[in-house]
Formats: sequence, C-alpha cells, structure tokens
Amino acid sequence: MKIRPRRLRGSAILRKMVAETNISPDQLVQPAFIIPGKDVKEEIRSMPGQFRFSVDRIGEEAREIKKAGISSMLIFGIPENKDEKASGAYAKDGVVQMAIASIKEAVPEMYVITDVCLCEYMSHGHCGIVRKCVSASVRKLKGDYVIDNDATLELLAMTAVSHAESGADMVAPSDMMDGRVAAIRKALDKEGFTYTPIMSYAAKYASAFYGPFRSAAESAPQVGDRKTYQMDPPNVREAMKEIALDIEEGADIVMVKPALAYLDVIAKARERFDLPIAAYNVSGEYSMLKAAAKNGWIDEKRAVLETLTAIKRAGADIIITYSAKEYTQYLS
Ligand code: PBG
Repeated sequence: MKIRPRRLRGSAILRKMVAETNISPDQLVQPAFIIPGKDVKEEIRSMPGQFRFSVDRIGEEAREIKKAGISSMLIFGIPENKDEKASGAYAKDGVVQMAIASIKEAVPEMYVITDVCLCEYMSHGHCGIVRKCVSASVRKLKGDYVIDNDATLELLAMTAVSHAESGADMVAPSDMMDGRVAAIRKALDKEGFTYTPIMSYAAKYASAFYGPFRSAAESAPQVGDRKTYQMDPPNVREAMKEIALDIEEGADIVMVKPALAYLDVIAKARERFDLPIAAYNVSGEYSMLKAAAKNGWIDEKRAVLETLTAIKRAGADIIITYSAKEYTQYLS
C-alpha cells in the first residue's frame, strides 16, 4: 500500500499540524441578556450556564468574558415595560443603552454588538408593528393580524441609531423585515455613524431551535408565529437572495441562523459571497448539548468543540455562541 491516510493521524502534534480548520477566540462572540432591576444575576432555566444580568452586574460579566479570551459580546435587552410600539427598544435609558455604558466602563476595549429587534419590547412579541386586518378577504388569507413591514423600518432605524449613540460598536438587525438594512444604514449615516458596521441576520429561519432563547428573552409571540417574516427551512436559494439583498443594501457582515441545521446554507453562502459570514449557534443547539451532558449521555467538551469546528468548516468566519466564554477552558 503506497497511500496510507492513517500516517498523518499518528500523533496529536501531527494531527494539529494538518488540521484544516482552526477556531480562534478572536472570532467568537458571547451573547448576554440584560434585564431591569438592581444586583440581579439569575440563571436561565432553559439555558444552563447562561444568565440574565441587571445593568449594574453586566460589567463584571464583561470582565470575565475578557479574561476568558473573548473580545466581543452581542447583547439583548428585556425591558421593564412592553408596548405596541416597542418604546423600550429606542429609549435613551433603555436596558441595552445603559448596559453598553456599564460594559465599556468595566472593559473599555470590549467590542459591543447590539441585537436590533423589537420582539422583546413589543407587548405582542412580534418583531414588527402588528395591524389588525380590517378587510375580510385579507383576513381570510392571512389571519386576523398582519405585520406592517414598512412602518416597522422606522422603529428599527431609531433603535439602531439609539444603540450607536449609546456607544455600540456594531448593530445586528435580527427582525427579518424587508429593506431594514438600507433603512438602518441610511439612518446611521445621517446621524454621523458612517463607520458603524451592520451585521445583518440575513438568512434567519423560522426555527424551533430558538425556543430556549424566547423564554430567556420573554419574546415568544402572543399570537401567531414568525413564519411570515423569518425564512422557511426548506429554502436555500431563497437564502442566497436574502443575503444578496442585504449586501446590496449595505450589510458589512451577513449571518446565517441557526447554524447546525443550516450548515449547507453557510457553505453555499461562503462559495457565493466574499463578505465575512457569521453563524449563530443558537439557544436550542446550546441547550440540547447541555441537557445531554447533564444526563451523562454525551461528552460536553468534545461535543461543543466538534460543533464549533463544524460551523467553521462549513465556512463561517464569525461564530456567535453561548459557549464562547467556556471555549478556552474547554481547550485546556
Ligand atoms: C430576536 C432574536 C431571536 C434570536 C436572536 N434574536 C429570537 C427569535 O427570532 O425568535 C434567537 C437566538 C437564539 O435562539 O439563541 N428576534
């Protein structure tokens, strides 16, 4: 036998030398949830090892994240009050706005990305403005409520500007309304935030894997679902269309979400587009491994590393993952 692939698998050093995929902590982003109140750090039941922090406690978490070798965070807010115009999303003293200051005070160099969406701030839990259908024929076709796409854009743009004014380094719209990247870009530029990048959740699917997040962020829709704005799981060509549109509208980084059930979408996007691609290793993907590990059914450390490697191998540059903070620990 002349060719023996096993030769290159003979030792750990050699295996690392020929590894085709490497993960750098520089490309991992740790999400965090901010809630109202004082001195709160509470574990999220559906996401063991993840917490919700009040504004005054998020600084210490940022320090720990930094100490773990991770330089960027993606933050989500849960407001005191929800209403039908998502006021909390663009309030000057909103949870996210205040949290940015706390993080920067604790760790000035921490790179803060904000999730721009309205669902956590809306009383009905949808990512856009909801209108009751008046016409019987429309109601028959689409149900009692519709999402007012174009009116929503204004609120999203206000939210993004408000985050930038509060010191956000990058904004990440996750709502899936048509035209939101262009609306946000225009508003940011108008207010002088010409160099604030937009990472768009470009191909975001209507996924069951967001379940644990929705209980953490209290953002599950009260009526209906997100299927009229988030993508339908069978579609990959449509994902290419969504990504191309977002790039045209001015996105700097495009995201595929979730990651694991959509590795083919990541791979295809990698082939087709030259922008950095982010992948979101979502809550359900995280919690499944945690639950299996807790039961002793799976080696958590190896499973997490294998998962992140798969996402990287598929072609993602940036990985948003709840395992970021633990990553360097897992390596040693
Ligand atoms: C807000 C948003 C969601 C997630 C990120 N931003 C939930 C949703 O769309 O319902 C999910 C993240 C996760 O599951 O980890 N729209």
